[in-house]
Amino acid sequence: MAYHILGVSAHYHNAAACLMRGGELVAAAEEERFSRIKHDPSMPKAAIRFCLQQARLAITDIHCVAWYELPWKKLGRQLWMGLPGFSRNPDEIQRMDPHRPEREIREILGFSGPIEYIEHHLAHAASAYYFSGFQEAAILTVDGVGEWATTSYGRGEQQNLELFEEVEFPNSIGLLYSTITSYLGFRVNGGEYKVMGLAPYGQPRYVDTLRATLQEETGGQYRLDMRYFDFLKNERMYSDALIDAFGTPPRKPETELKPFHMDVARSLQVVLEEILLAKTRYLHTRVPSQNLCLAGGVALNCVANRHVHAHGPFKNLFVQPAANDAGGALGAAAMAHRRRCESSIPTQRMSQVFLGPAYSNDEIHRILATTPLHFEDFRGRSEALFNKVAAAIDSGKVAGWFQGRMEFGPRALGARSILADPRNPNMRDHINALVKKREAFRPFAPSVLEENMGDHFDLQHPSPFMLETCQVKSPLNMPAITHVDASARVQTVNAQENPRYAALLRAFFQRTGCPILLNTSFNMRSEPIVCSPLHALSCFVRSEIDLLVLEDFFIEKGAIPDFWKQALEIIEKNTNPAITHRVYTFF
Ligand SMILES: [Fe+2]
Repeated sequence: MAYHILGVSAHYHNAAACLMRGGELVAAAEEERFSRIKHDPSMPKAAIRFCLQQARLAITDIHCVAWYELPWKKLGRQLWMGLPGFSRNPDEIQRMDPHRPEREIREILGFSGPIEYIEHHLAHAASAYYFSGFQEAAILTVDGVGEWATTSYGRGEQQNLELFEEVEFPNSIGLLYSTITSYLGFRVNGGEYKVMGLAPYGQPRYVDTLRATLQEETGGQYRLDMRYFDFLKNERMYSDALIDAFGTPPRKPETELKPFHMDVARSLQVVLEEILLAKTRYLHTRVPSQNLCLAGGVALNCVANRHVHAHGPFKNLFVQPAANDAGGALGAAAMAHRRRCESSIPTQRMSQVFLGPAYSNDEIHRILATTPLHFEDFRGRSEALFNKVAAAIDSGKVAGWFQGRMEFGPRALGARSILADPRNPNMRDHINALVKKREAFRPFAPSVLEENMGDHFDLQHPSPFMLETCQVKSPLNMPAITHVDASARVQTVNAQENPRYAALLRAFFQRTGCPILLNTSFNMRSEPIVCSPLHALSCFVRSEIDLLVLEDFFIEKGAIPDFWKQALEIIEKNTNPAITHRVYTFF
């Protein structure tokens, strides 16, 4: 019988679970999608339940639970920090208990078998290497902090993976990035994307200021000048010295963004790219491979990934699509498989992330049929559905698009997406006003049919996960997806991996000559991406999205009874306690 491993990542940022059967990934999901608490860090009970159901297993069929961290080692770092915040928040001391993972695995999951603890950065490294398809590669992981490591260097060869050097807390590129994110008035552990999006609007006027906070050292090492940082006190990220160095007070959240903030964001991006490129070059001297694997939260900076790929010594790049801590569950499971099983891990490149739950037409019909909603049933007539949706988008409508298994990782890739016409000059503001309510400066991302990518984007290889940016070179004018520096964060769509989404893109292409759609995640601001048809209906009702496609069912906004919106707004207001951070979660 195949060996079953449950990989679990929790108690930090985004909790997640995955199931590996005989070294193959069968299912993976983040807890927030079920609990509806954005960035939910708690033991991922619902995600685990889903993984077991998907594999048709009970917890007694699991041979090993792989946990993505060494709790005792992490406690050592927390104690070194001097228990900051203890007097304010005794709950944080509870959360430090190193017995907590095992206790919860035993008591909540009812699991009595072995638990394999995998070091945080080793889990990140494995989440990239074992899913890269490379036979050998250099590996770089960069995040805020794991137990002690904040950056690690490694090599993979066939089935073996080793880390040979690490940078230790408090020296952390990730924490530098989070510190400036916080200084610019955005949320730590989430607002970093916004800083990246803001950067192209600014000039790199503060590069020297930021270089002073981070000294490069020999080998893989670098050092933060802790005079500029206050995160060791767990109260705020930056110190008065950093405010003095910029000569401007920190921006208050939700206040006006000025050129100064854009210049700081741009300078930060430059300094990040400098240090990543330097350390990538160092890594190549130690591991002179053509292949580089990246993971850790900093690897979600797709602009820096592009820079490292374009200017660095590695020809081929693989970035784990769930490069953040959610992906730690995948790496922990892969490492546990390596330690406990004779059999190898299959070395195909991860080509899609549709690892979450799917809902059949029958299930969706059962839900819709119990409501007074008017809906159109396209079962057995998918082509007609795609043509109808393409026509609606072409006429300026915004579509909620729900099909197949939910994506794992932070990006919506055509399974739980909001779609619109990228050529429409008003579409960015329109979607922001209708549903996303996010900062106007952030562009939306495009999805393009893989076979047409070269006609519109300066992209030489498929980019199925939106993890690299590139220049737009399209003859079409697409203001809704083109950033101020003429770049875009492209998703290429392949008909084998994503057939229904590819078919919709093709229908839109045939109708309009544009093989591209604007694709943004299917959620309201501060909410997790929708998971089930009911979540999708709720988001559809409360937002101003024009139409909803649930598998083969088509619903127009006019079909929604008025009182639904009021009722759902009350329910969501009381059940959506989004978690926000001013300080990186060290506990
Ligand atoms: Fe991490």
